[in-house]
Amino acid sequence: MTDKSTQPRVLIFDTTLRDGEQSPGATMTHNEKLEIAHLLDDMGVDIIEAGFPIASEGDFAAVSAIAKQSNTATICGLARANFKDIDRCWEAVKHAKSPRIHTFIGTSPLHRAMHDLTMDQMAERIHETVTHARNLCDNVQWSPMDATRTEHDYLCRVVEIAILAGATTLNIPDTVGYIAPRESSSLIRMLLERVPGADNIIFATHCHNDLGMATANALAAVEAGARQIECTINGLGERAGNTALEEVVMAMKVRNDILPYRTRIDTTKIMNISRKVATVSGFAVQFNKAIVGKNAFAHESGIHQDGMLKNAETFEIMRPTDIGLAETSLVMGKHSGRAALRAKLRDLGFELADNQLADVFVRFKALADRKKEVYDDDLIALMQDHGTSEAHDTLQIKRLRVVCGTDGPQEAELTLTIEGVDHSIDATGDGPVDAAFNAVKMLYPHGARLQLYQVHAVTEGTDAQATVSVRVEEDGRIATGQSADTDTVVASVKAYINALNRLIQRRKSSAPGDDTKSIHYKDQS
Ligand code: KIV
Ligand code: ZN
Repeated sequence: MTDKSTQPRVLIFDTTLRDGEQSPGATMTHNEKLEIAHLLDDMGVDIIEAGFPIASEGDFAAVSAIAKQSNTATICGLARANFKDIDRCWEAVKHAKSPRIHTFIGTSPLHRAMHDLTMDQMAERIHETVTHARNLCDNVQWSPMDATRTEHDYLCRVVEIAILAGATTLNIPDTVGYIAPRESSSLIRMLLERVPGADNIIFATHCHNDLGMATANALAAVEAGARQIECTINGLGERAGNTALEEVVMAMKVRNDILPYRTRIDTTKIMNISRKVATVSGFAVQFNKAIVGKNAFAHESGIHQDGMLKNAETFEIMRPTDIGLAETSLVMGKHSGRAALRAKLRDLGFELADNQLADVFVRFKALADRKKEVYDDDLIALMQDHGTSEAHDTLQIKRLRVVCGTDGPQEAELTLTIEGVDHSIDATGDGPVDAAFNAVKMLYPHGARLQLYQVHAVTEGTDAQATVSVRVEEDGRIATGQSADTDTVVASVKAYINALNRLIQRRKSSAPGDDTKSIHYKDQS
């Protein structure tokens, strides 16, 4: 048995709430961010990048609240290379038991041109801003954005300047997901060898997954001496996403023989947080995603099942329970009681307070009335259902009836409660979903464009629930909605209304210009 306590420790820096949330459409509400931060802290994440405080009042409020509720994790906020951003960041993170300011500027030729700064001018800016951040906070992380496309000599020069100015962590981002594992390790090795003072600070690796190499690149950087991995749950992030936390953590655990590093992560909490992030971000996890995909532990082929029954290790390199996946197969039905539901949900990784359980129990009973057998996947869909309107939502569905047939257009009769007042209308369309969406648009005229409409059957059978995801866009703002129901049309309208409510919320909480999505490209003083 290996003695892990002597292995080098790799810090896990989670940026689901900052880089992950930057993914178009992945916007989360204030309470959802707080809940995720709590789960990350509880799971053993070392540093939580909670947001970008200058981006909007909402971001500032979320980072401050996360800082105030923080327990063990260091709470970090992002700031561009200017005093205003850094001051705002400090105002938000200073409430944490352990605060960190993370400031960055793009250092590659393309970024220098975009900022219209010479190498010397940029070096000066880095010196000033890191010094300023360090005067406010003892714990400062600096990132040369697009480091992997920055000339090595210049990268060494600016890294040294940041260290001299007081940066305690040096993050090396592969912003565009361009490098390959061998380069990732040689870059870290080169910096450790060439930059004076490099042995006294922590090097971090921050990889994007554009070429599908983010996990491999992060682990290669660790092998070369990086001691912090920046990652997100489910690999959430702009474009192809970031390094997935669950992948790097499980790789170091399962292949500890060749990756002898330890983390503080309680891996049994992975599945629960993965589901939570999928639900609140509206980004479903692909079925064959490593570690947390629905099929990651499914063995359906006859040969595999036979082998598994004889010895699970035949085809399994880790146990489902390692990531918090229960191995129960108890099917629930309408006679199942509250205690059974609580136990089942706990097995599935959902820990509920009494009032939450009461609400879920009502919805579970309604589902069990319509569906004879309620499977694990049905319960997960129920827990992830965002279609139930909340009291503060502008739009609420009161009644929906659709008429379908082979002849003539389909019709929908809809009653929507809009800001407390009921409005009804009949609409037609090319299919029942189209008719129902037309009715929504007639009752609540809006300019939001439907970008995505996706339906999945949760289980087999004609009484299966459908989960529907909808993404809408208006003036550059994107919002997603999700819902599940045994009736596909009802699930569709609930998901659409959910997306519209989120869009309305976003409209209220931010002006178009203060959208965090544009932070990579703006960096004015
Ligand atoms: O990808 C990137 O370069 C970033 C920086 C802000 C660290 O997310
Ligand atoms: Zn990034």
